[in-house]
Amino acid sequence: MSTMSGSFKLDLPVRPRRLRRTAGIRALVEETTLRPADFIAPLFVIDGKAAPEPVGSMPGVERLNIADLVKECRGLLKTGVRAVALFPKIDPRLKNDHGTAALDEDALILRAVRAVKKALPELVVITDIALDPYTTHGHDGLLTSDGADVANDATVEVLVKMSVLHARAGVDFVAPSDMMDGRIAAIRRALDAAGCEQTAIMAYSSKFASAFYGPFRDAVGSSKAADSAPLDKRTYQLSPANRREAVVEALLDESEGADALMVKPAGPYLDIIREVRDATRKPLAAYQVSGEYAQLHAAAKLGWLDLERTAMESLLAIKRAGADMILTYFAKTAARLLQGGGK
Ligand code: PBG
Repeated sequence: MSTMSGSFKLDLPVRPRRLRRTAGIRALVEETTLRPADFIAPLFVIDGKAAPEPVGSMPGVERLNIADLVKECRGLLKTGVRAVALFPKIDPRLKNDHGTAALDEDALILRAVRAVKKALPELVVITDIALDPYTTHGHDGLLTSDGADVANDATVEVLVKMSVLHARAGVDFVAPSDMMDGRIAAIRRALDAAGCEQTAIMAYSSKFASAFYGPFRDAVGSSKAADSAPLDKRTYQLSPANRREAVVEALLDESEGADALMVKPAGPYLDIIREVRDATRKPLAAYQVSGEYAQLHAAAKLGWLDLERTAMESLLAIKRAGADMILTYFAKTAARLLQGGGK
């Protein structure tokens, strides 16, 4: 090259920059690629005919009635996103301490699943299995009689029934997000006994007790009580300090019959994604949670970060860490950017 100035010259046979010289070369040596089909879009559903309700702490995210939900799903398919995770926000009057609305045969989530599957049978539909949208206290399970803990086995008994209802409504994956011990094996057994052996389980296997879930709890209206002492979610969700324990949980869920595993949150837990990726051959999902989404939006609003570029970089990093699929509120935006040539 004739552009070198000056006479100083290193004797340097290895020059990594040669592979970064042109866009064509950079594309050839690219190690990680994002595709719209990598994304799972989390969507919030409400009852009735209400107009879309914006979620204050999650710009661009709205709670949708079932008809609007179906439209949104159709739009996602057009952008190349082929999977959704549905979350209900139910009428607070239907909540009680036992979350009995979770077993209502006509529950909002079941009607939503049936409507989406009827309109768009090819769309992959995933639902959360946990009681937090249904309990007044906001915990993912039933409390012990003294209210001091979440009762493991009694909760699993309910989750098993909930899973069969969701499977019969037509979901492709049930996704237990409760972190009770032994739930994957119990759910697998019940699904098989109910003739739902084709319904897969995506286990929220390594789910941390994270402060990054705050905006989600606004979105589904799950009680803040579950965020505070004396009983918060730390008796069932993992400690953010623990890496080995996250692998123990993933392998346990695999051995109990999970078809896919998950690490959640994603961005602050890239080391865990890599660790689990290296420990199992199962497909691995990572959940870029509400707080990860909110923080990029907040910084962008202040003019401090470029939203599109930081969103794409955050997703690429999650994929590079080892995730096969990513639950992300950026799904539609990211898919559109990728379709338009991307960044
Ligand atoms: C509930 C559930 C939570 C999320 C997904 N499923 C919240 C919680 O555990 O309190 C969080 C998702 C997000 O923050 O985007 N079991």
